[in-house]
Amino acid sequence: MSRSGFHPDAPNAVLYGDNIDALRRMPDECVSLIYIDPPFNTGRSQRRQNLKTVRNEVGTRTGFKGQQYQNIKGDLFSYDDAFADYWEFLAPRLEHAWRILRDDGSLYLHLDYREAHYAKVLLDALFGRDNFLNEIIWAYDYGARAKNKWPTKHDNILVYVKDKTKYHFSNEDVDREPYMAPGLVTAEKAAKGKLPTDVWWHTIVSPTGKEKTGYPTQKPEGILRRIVQASSRPGTWVMDFFAGSGTTGAVCAALGRRYLLIDSHEDAIEIMRTRLEGGNLLLGEPKFFTVDDVSSLLDLPSNEEVTRDLGPNA
Ligand SMILES: C[S@@+](CC[C@H](N)C(=O)[O-])C[C@H]1O[C@@H](n2cnc3c(N)ncnc32)[C@H](O)[C@@H]1O
Repeated sequence: MSRSGFHPDAPNAVLYGDNIDALRRMPDECVSLIYIDPPFNTGRSQRRQNLKTVRNEVGTRTGFKGQQYQNIKGDLFSYDDAFADYWEFLAPRLEHAWRILRDDGSLYLHLDYREAHYAKVLLDALFGRDNFLNEIIWAYDYGARAKNKWPTKHDNILVYVKDKTKYHFSNEDVDREPYMAPGLVTAEKAAKGKLPTDVWWHTIVSPTGKEKTGYPTQKPEGILRRIVQASSRPGTWVMDFFAGSGTTGAVCAALGRRYLLIDSHEDAIEIMRTRLEGGNLLLGEPKFFTVDDVSSLLDLPSNEEVTRDLGPNA
């Protein structure tokens, strides 16, 4: 199979349609960073299938942790119905995410407390436990407060790298944050700010702020900025295949990264059109396609070859 990636002249792109149709057509190791923020409930309408007995001999590939991954997936899927529905939707997309990441690349999977622990087990098996980098806690403080338990005010972002010996990470390039107790450090240190840890305090997108697009699940640019700054180099390809309002694209445009965004909702595409047009100096304005057109962006030998390599469930 070809190791080639995007055509050197490929534009920043926004694709309309089901992301699986684009992912299946993408070659191995062609993007440097993937951030995804999947919707919680999408999988519930998917077809239920017992994967407990799946043996994916054709589909296992070097580094994929083949049989172990299939076994763990089968065990988790048989544990809980709602979980299985959701993960039958998400797991094949994560398998493709692993496949299309370059060997210095990273995946950021944005979830919440309901799914994060299952995702950790599954991604440990898919990427290899050694390639787990962090669980980032994004803490915010907004909205109603439960009276019968600790109010839940955080999201979980799991970070995996394709290869722990080769991945790119530079927190020196990340915007620093103020010290909580600036009086305890020197004035020079206080002025410089501190390196962020794995707990990120950040407000949600303000309902009245200029960042707001009106898209209900929009994430703050400040969160994406940190991710893109730390885990990608300028000029490399960043992908978000649950793109929503296009936060990843807006941040990439500002930071000089190339982007490929996908969403299956027409409203998201229209919001991205408004938000991203005119915003990028690196490759010009994004082009809009459907997922079926993804091959035209890629230097790709044959779509069929990529699909066959991953086996029947991907
Ligand atoms: C939680 S939102 C992402 C929000 C985004 N991070 C932002 O900042 O605006 C999830 C998005 O995934 C999209 N989506 C759901 N299923 C999809 C699929 N199969 N293919 C592509 N997009 C999908 C939804 O339309 C929705 O816009």
